[in-house]
Amino acid sequence: MFHDEQPALCLFGAGGHGRVVAGIARRIWRGKVIFGDNNLTVGTLVDGTKVEVSNLSDVGKYNVLVTVGENRIRRKLQMQADQLGLKCAFLVADTASYFASDPGGGSTILTSTVVNPGAKIGRGVIINTGAIVEHDSTINDFCHLAPNSLVLGGCTLDNDVFLGANSTVLQGLYICPDVIIGAGAVVVCDITQPGTYAGVPARRIG
Ligand SMILES: CC(C)(COP(=O)(O)OP(=O)(O)OC[C@H]1O[C@@H](n2cnc3c(N)ncnc32)[C@H](O)[C@@H]1OP(=O)(O)O)[C@@H](O)C(=O)NCCC(=O)NCCS
Repeated sequence: MFHDEQPALCLFGAGGHGRVVAGIARRIWRGKVIFGDNNLTVGTLVDGTKVEVSNLSDVGKYNVLVTVGENRIRRKLQMQADQLGLKCAFLVADTASYFASDPGGGSTILTSTVVNPGAKIGRGVIINTGAIVEHDSTINDFCHLAPNSLVLGGCTLDNDVFLGANSTVLQGLYICPDVIIGAGAVVVCDITQPGTYAGVPARRIG
C-alpha cells in the first residue's frame, strides 16, 4: 500500500530496521528504492539495495522514509527532513491487516501486524513485525512498538514511547511520553512518569 504519486523512495538508515523495511519496499514499492545513510559510503550495496546518498540534504526529489529504530534518532532525522522540505512517505506492508486511517508521514507498519478500526497512528511511528494495535487506540508520534507487542483497545501511547518485544498494554491505559517498556512486560495501570518499566505487572526499574 503506497500513498504517494512520486515513484522513487529513499530509505534513510540502512541498519537493521532499514533492511527490514527495504525487504518489504523492494517487493511492493512501485518505483526505485534506494538507501541513504550518514555512516555508509555512497555506492555500498546493502542486501542488494544501493546507498545513493549520505546526507538528507542530498535526498532531493526522492520520497524519504527515515528507517532508524531508535526513537530519538528517528525523530531528529525526521525534523531535519521536514526543515529541508523533503517529501515524506509512509509504508504499510502488504501483509499487514491495517483497518485504520492512514498513518502519519514517516511511519512504517511492518509484516504481519494488525491495526484495528478507530486506531490512530501518528508520525514516525514503527509498528514492528507482528505487533497489534487494537481498536480505538492512539499511538502518538515517534513511538516504536517492537515485534509482537500488543496494545489493547482504547489506549493512548504518548510521544516517543518504546514497547519492548512481546509486551502488553491492557485496555484503556495511558502511557506518557519518553517511556520504555521492557520485553515481556504487562502494563496494568496508567504510566505518568517517564522512565523504564519492566516485569509483570510492569514496574519502574533503574
Ligand atoms: C527493560 C530494558 C529496556 C532494560 O534495559 P537496561 O536499562 O539496560 O537494564 P538492565 O539490563 O541493566 O537491567 C536492569 C534490571 O532489570 C531487569 N530486566 C531487564 N530487562 C527486563 C525485562 N524485560 N523484564 C524484566 N526484568 C528485566 C534486569 O534483570 C536487571 O535486574 P537486576 O537489577 O535485578 O539485576 C531491556 O532489558 C529490554 O527489555 N529492552 C527491550 C528489548 C526489545 O524488545 N527490543 C526490540 C527491538 S526491535
